[in-house]
Amino acid sequence: MTRRFAPFVERIAHEGGNDPWALHWEARHAAARGEDVIVLSVGDPDLSTPVPVVETAVAKLRAGDTHYTESGGRPALRSAIAAQHRQRTGQAVTADNTVVLSGTQNGLFVASLCLAGPGDEVIAIDPMYTTYPATIRASGATLVRVPATASAAFRPDLAALEAAVTPRTRAVFLATPNNPTGVVLSVAEVDALASIARRHGLWLVSDEVYAGVVDGGSVPSLATRLPEQVLTVGSLSKTHAMTGWRAGWIVGPGDFIRHADALAQCMLYGLPGFIQEAAITALAMAHAAEAEVRDYCRVRRELFFRELRDVPGIRAYWPDAGMFMLLDVRASGLPTADFVRRLYAAEHVSLLDGAAFGRETEGFVRACYAADEAALVEAARRIRRFCVRLAAG
Ligand SMILES: Cc1ncc(COP(=O)(O)O)c(C=O)c1O
Repeated sequence: MTRRFAPFVERIAHEGGNDPWALHWEARHAAARGEDVIVLSVGDPDLSTPVPVVETAVAKLRAGDTHYTESGGRPALRSAIAAQHRQRTGQAVTADNTVVLSGTQNGLFVASLCLAGPGDEVIAIDPMYTTYPATIRASGATLVRVPATASAAFRPDLAALEAAVTPRTRAVFLATPNNPTGVVLSVAEVDALASIARRHGLWLVSDEVYAGVVDGGSVPSLATRLPEQVLTVGSLSKTHAMTGWRAGWIVGPGDFIRHADALAQCMLYGLPGFIQEAAITALAMAHAAEAEVRDYCRVRRELFFRELRDVPGIRAYWPDAGMFMLLDVRASGLPTADFVRRLYAAEHVSLLDGAAFGRETEGFVRACYAADEAALVEAARRIRRFCVRLAAG
């Protein structure tokens, strides 16, 4: 018998056959074994989920909230998501404009499947989060990359974006702040993007998973400018140190939400009730939780940047916001895959190869600075030692 898989599996395969997360998981497993490893390769804040959120989940579990739930989310959680979105953006949305999904990643996947299909094109700004290519191609659409180059401080080239639009283009996927660059789209850029989308009848999928981490707790909103064509995707992962809870959502126009709800029914079948209840608690205390993560990131961004000053062969980029710093390691003379591998082998510091985010970050590596301060100082010391040795040949 010839065993065959659907063409779909090729669309979701890792580009070039390389899993960008392989070294990260190797480092995580070594750390779990108690080895002296510093893991800065993932955006997972080194903070605990707020106690009231954990308490809600435990109480609900004990009370038996362990049964099926509405596939698109409980009404109370959908209302809470709508309330937070209204407060953050000013867009007048209700529970009917929301769907509860398993994290931003699940939201991006749902958006992809509901917006595009074979023969369509979807634009994404390069560099982009590592999951975007497979998420976009999963629908059968072709991914079209529009650059945000290092020489333009990783700001998107919106003229190039409009030039890339064809009659087949259905949507633009972007993240503000961006991961890995930390770039937050400005008011002018958001205005221009909304105009392009309006002119060409495109969907905009705005990944705002880090919006609460930006100074002031919000980003210039695409959704307020073009409510009928914008999906805002988010979660509690970053703002509440809740990456493992998988509590996320999409906010968008009602017709889209009905399709997303139908997809949630045949794909997810509802987030666990105790997690949804914990998410309601989390949203009720979002102001304080976000302020804590924001302050946490602000202090560590400065610390890590300072510690990496004058490291031979490295230039650190100052991010607008988020949890990540890009390090330009081109002057080290090593391809980035070798840089991260050799750094890990020699110094047990795990970073992510910038090539995992697209063509524009080849020559860069990404460090997450949402980590313990002493670990950050030690990581910078080890990176310096590695680079000094490299420079000495
Ligand atoms: C830009 C971006 N989008 C989505 C995700 C996934 O987030 P979630 O945990 O909400 O699925 C991440 C995680 O790092 C991210 O950086």
